[in-house]
This record gives sequence, C-alpha cells and structure tokens, in this order.
Amino acid sequence: MSRRQPADATDMDRAAAVLRAGGLVAFPTETVYGLGADARNVDAVARIFAVKGRPTDHPLIVHLGDARQLAEWARDVPQSALQLAEAFWPGPLTLVLPRLAGVPDAVTGGLDTVALRVPGHPVALALLAAFGGGLAAPSANGYGRVSPTSAGDVVEELGDAVDMVLDGGRCAVGIESTIVDLSSDPPRVLRPGPITERDLQRVLGRPLAKTVDAHVRSPGRKPSHYAPRARVVLASSDDVGQHVEAWRERGQRVGVLAPHRPEGLPDDVTWLHFTGGVRKQAHALYRRLREADHLGLQVLVTVMPPDLEVGQALCDRLRRAAGLGDGADPTVQPVQRSTSDA
Ligand code: TXA
Ligand code: MG
Repeated sequence: MSRRQPADATDMDRAAAVLRAGGLVAFPTETVYGLGADARNVDAVARIFAVKGRPTDHPLIVHLGDARQLAEWARDVPQSALQLAEAFWPGPLTLVLPRLAGVPDAVTGGLDTVALRVPGHPVALALLAAFGGGLAAPSANGYGRVSPTSAGDVVEELGDAVDMVLDGGRCAVGIESTIVDLSSDPPRVLRPGPITERDLQRVLGRPLAKTVDAHVRSPGRKPSHYAPRARVVLASSDDVGQHVEAWRERGQRVGVLAPHRPEGLPDDVTWLHFTGGVRKQAHALYRRLREADHLGLQVLVTVMPPDLEVGQALCDRLRRAAGLGDGADPTVQPVQRSTSDA
C-alpha cells in the first residue's frame, strides 16, 4: 500500500476505509502528527503499541470530530468540561474524564478515566468526519523519541509500519496538547502545553490544583522522553559557553540551541536557531532536535526559555529530552568539567 498521501477529499474516504479495516493512519494535527487507529477496535489499538514499542499500560488520547461525542466516551461530563470544550476545541487541549464502561482497557491502560480531544487541524477534522468514530492516537514517533511535526518526520520515525500517512504540512503549534484532569476537583494540569494554566483559569473562573504527582496520575509521562540521539544539556544564556567548552574538551561534537548565536562560539560548534517568543520556539523545537540528529551532533547545549506560560511546556519537553523530567527542577544543569578534574 502506498504510504505518504497528500490529503484531499478522496484520500479521506480511503483513509477511513483503512481505519475501519483495523489499519493505522498517521495524520496531522495542529500540535504534532498522530498515529491513529479505531479506538473501539482492540486489535487495531494493539498495533499502535507494537509499532511504537510503547508499554501497553500507557494510555492513549481518543480524538473526536465534535464535542457532542464526549457523551459516547465519558461517564460524567461536568460543566467545566463543557466550558473548556466550548472555549478551546477544536484545539490543543485534552480533557481527562471518568470513562464509560465500554471504553476499551487497551485505550485507557486499565484506568477508570479516558483522555479526549477535538484536534484543530482541517485534515484531522476531515478524517474524523469521514471515519465517524473516535481515533486513538499517540504522537507518531517511536517510544521515547522526538514527536513528528511533518509527514516526512513520521516516515523517518515509523517507515513502512504505518498503512497510510496523510500529509497536512508542518504542524502549526509544534508541541503536544495541554492535558487537564477533570476527573477530580479542582481540575489539574497533567501535561503543560499550548493552552496555559492562566488560559484555563480564565475560562473556569477558579484556580487549578497544584501539579504535584502528575507523573503518578498520568502514566506514560516519564522523565526521559521527546529525546533526540544527541545528549541534551540544559543551560542558561550566562553559562552556555562554559557548557560548550566542557563538552568540546571531551571531544564531543557540540551544537547550541539558543535564541542568538552566543558570542565567541567556536567555528566547529553549530548554532541552531531558537528565535522568537515561546510560541515560535514551540513551533521550532522538535524540528531543531531532529536537525541535531541529522547533523550527527553528540551534545546539544540548550538555552532554556523562561519557565512561564507556554515556556513551561517548552521547559517540560526540554527537561525530558535531557532525561531529567518530573518536578520543576532542575531548570539548568551544572557545568560538567572533564572527568579528570571531577
Ligand atoms: O497533542 C497531542 O496530545 C498529541 C496529538 C497526536 O493529539 N498526542 C499525544 O499523545 O501527545 P501521546 O500518546 O504521545 O501522549 C498522551 C499522553 C500520555 O502522556 C498519557 O499518559 C496521557 O496522555 N493520558 C492518556 N490518557 C490518560 C488518562 N486517562 N489519564 C491520564 N493521562 C492520560
Ligand atoms: Mg508522545
């Protein structure tokens, strides 16, 4: 079967047929590309885990074409869910709600809740409309790897294991949706993302719960994730040069991910642009991590964005890319001098 398809209306019918037959279709969303399967078909869902190499107790997000379908998946849809859906769907927000009995364990990892989202990309919405039901879809990358933000990235990640890849261009947002847990009160952010806590509070009209123990409540959020092959080192604009020197001394091929080319950067060190505000940085993040791998970099020294608003999501992804996820610390790492003086 041919793999990569420019997405037009006739392709949607073919893609929906592939899904009904239990196949896997990768599709664009506004955040990252998803690897979709019929969320009611446990064999198809099992294929997602096999293709990604993902442990089966890590639950998946069910993508819906319309907020009215919430009642087909959630047992109990509180007013807060309707308010958030109204304000942010279609868009980069995932709601965790108590699940209906019929939602397969394969999707929820056996939890009593289900994660639901209406994505804001026209190709995703056209696919969901053609298919009619819910699509279980994790990001379309190998387990623990960098999420794909173009159809080419999906092919690079998963190759022939996918039955069809719909090409909807480069993802506009570039990092995964915000996940908010509405199964307990007050609501709690499980994964920071493009919709900030402030955005959520504005709509809910009240504060959220503190994001402690989110890793316990959201299995599959692990300390090492979103990782390129290069070692990611977290720096500040003040100590970036020292980090670079320390890794060069060890003979490593070093790159820098920073808003500006640091002054005095040696010629053999590649600077990867990370310019603009945090939304622009979010758009570029995974592409840059992939570029680091294409360039064969061994170490990527990263100047951390401010840990505020959408910057919180960026810092979260970068910490995990560095293998240092969970909790607010560390924001940056100490400079590691060569082992001889350690
Ligand atoms: O933007 C996104 O959310 C992308 C696009 C494709 O929609 N999807 C995505 O899926 O990032 P994935 O599988 O890579 O991440 C889903 C996250 C996992 O961390 C998982 O633990 C959490 O959602 N999750 C899913 N169901 C959950 C539940 N019932 N309770 C708590 N966390 C849940
Ligand atoms: Mg993922």
